[in-house]
Amino acid sequence: MCGIVGYIGQQQAAPILLQGLSKLEYRGYDSAGISVRNGEEETVIVKSKGRLKVLAEKTNDGLAVKGNCGIGHTRWATHGEPSEQNAHPHASEDSSVVAVHNGIIENYQEIKEKLEKKGYVFYSETDTEVAVNLIDYYYKKHDGDPLDAIAKAMMRIRGSYALAIMFRDYPGEIFAARKDSPMIIGINNSDVFIASDVPAILKYTRNVYYIGNMEIARLTCGNVTFYNIDKEEIEKELTEIKWDEEAAEKGGFEHYMMKEIHEQPKAVRDTLNSMIKNGSISLSDAGLSDEELEKISHIYIVACGSAYHVGVTLQYVIEDMARVPVSVDLASEFRYRQPIMEKDGLVIIISQSGETADSLAALREAKEKGVKTLGIVNVVGSSIAREADRVIYTLAGPEIAVATTKAYSAQLAAGYVLAVQLAKVRGKINEEKYTEMIEELLMLPDKIAKTLEDKERIQWFASKFSNAKDVFFVGRGLDYAIGLEGSLKMKEISYIHSEAYAAGELKHGTISLIEDGILVIGILTQQELYEKMISNLVEVKSRGAYLMGLTVYGNYGIEDTVDFSVYVPKTSKYFASSVAIIPLQLMGYYLSVSKGLDVDKPRNLAKSVTVE
Ligand code: M6R
Repeated sequence: MCGIVGYIGQQQAAPILLQGLSKLEYRGYDSAGISVRNGEEETVIVKSKGRLKVLAEKTNDGLAVKGNCGIGHTRWATHGEPSEQNAHPHASEDSSVVAVHNGIIENYQEIKEKLEKKGYVFYSETDTEVAVNLIDYYYKKHDGDPLDAIAKAMMRIRGSYALAIMFRDYPGEIFAARKDSPMIIGINNSDVFIASDVPAILKYTRNVYYIGNMEIARLTCGNVTFYNIDKEEIEKELTEIKWDEEAAEKGGFEHYMMKEIHEQPKAVRDTLNSMIKNGSISLSDAGLSDEELEKISHIYIVACGSAYHVGVTLQYVIEDMARVPVSVDLASEFRYRQPIMEKDGLVIIISQSGETADSLAALREAKEKGVKTLGIVNVVGSSIAREADRVIYTLAGPEIAVATTKAYSAQLAAGYVLAVQLAKVRGKINEEKYTEMIEELLMLPDKIAKTLEDKERIQWFASKFSNAKDVFFVGRGLDYAIGLEGSLKMKEISYIHSEAYAAGELKHGTISLIEDGILVIGILTQQELYEKMISNLVEVKSRGAYLMGLTVYGNYGIEDTVDFSVYVPKTSKYFASSVAIIPLQLMGYYLSVSKGLDVDKPRNLAKSVTVE
């Protein structure tokens, strides 16, 4: 996820671009850049690594760059580490074409190789530079017609994109094109704007056009013309934006956490699509060969917080499905407990930020002992991503809320794919089962979206428990792992004390804590453990607990035991965490809201814990 802006009109472009980018920083903040054109003069490009303020300082808040036409970008790295070189805008070799891009070009490698054969040389590692040179190629081949060049490039590119493009031969114009990545065009008299999201232009206009998939826009001072992919002109209606500025930044949601909860189908889909191509798994981007996976004697998963809970889930999944022994450690423990590691082992560090101090230290510890390491990381170019021998990137985009939701879900997705591939190369599942697992995985985003539809019931239920002092989560097997994460979500943002227990452990102490009216949330997605779980729930109910049961559609008999039931779509038993976690995230969220707490920034917590 990145943020793009564009401006053409009678004012100075650079300050407007910087202002717009500041509202899009939530979409990415590892580097930024602008490109501005002053009449017939050459386009000026200024870029910098780091937060937008570095670019603002470099350009004296935009005052140092003159011109009435320009494009800008704030980046969240997907291809190539965060650096000035990889920052946008990108220019073709002779600067005929300059562009900014949001999205992922899936076939960029193939296009790059073709362009290299035609003599193109690349200076960055980005897929965007490939798109720019592809447009340049068609532009020069077909009589210098920008519209035609863009349309041809769009036909050739697979993936998602929102592009804002300037051509050296067309000084007073900006072109925009989009497929599956957000982009709007705003207009106010002679001022015309491009933006990835509404907040970037709300200061200047509330009148916007929504550019559709596979459409192109041509912007000049005070005018926009839209075209379909066949270059035929199309009519569009202006829409008036009624949101206030703050609401707009959160995409209409009250909090970033809720926005991110709703971004989970996309985060999971993008992550799966980056690892599953044409119906089979490819881990070549991560540099993991089948031979390597075959040889692993033991997997050590090391992480903190929610990422650790992903590890607990993956332990169940990998051991059961691929029959590889897995140990899971909290990074803060692992680094000091002198772990014994097999030389053919693999240490997997899971981290959203890639900067968590304990996880990084654990990674270094493993490397020092000569054991291979794999990072499952969300932030491209972060310390863990750089230092691990292999990296699988989760494609969740920037996560702002302290309580993780979409990064957790994307980590699970990446871990599942790894488990399926391990199982396949080690002969634990046959071709048929492999295909079935992949199909199940690809259905997860829709099942998550379906689960989100039921949120009002959770909201109603949460409102009844905002005064709760203690809540217990119980489950067996994978359901215990989901409980751990549900409990963390609840306590970190609602400040209600909660614990997760393996249901079989209740009798060994915890059951003495159960008294009248205490909320116990039972999780029952694992069919073979269902009956045992029902017995555990009956036990706590007879001690006065108020029961919520979370299970899959079809298990309606649960209503004989529990006071409130929540159903999620059925999945393969291995992947149930991905849907069952959704009501629990919502539960934590609504409890926090009903208590009037700061959902996105809970007290005493930081998004990334970079100190011990
Ligand atoms: O950036 P990381 O994934 O390494 O962060 C790990 C934990 O700090 C993180 O998951 C934390 O527990 C979250 N606040 C949970 O919502």
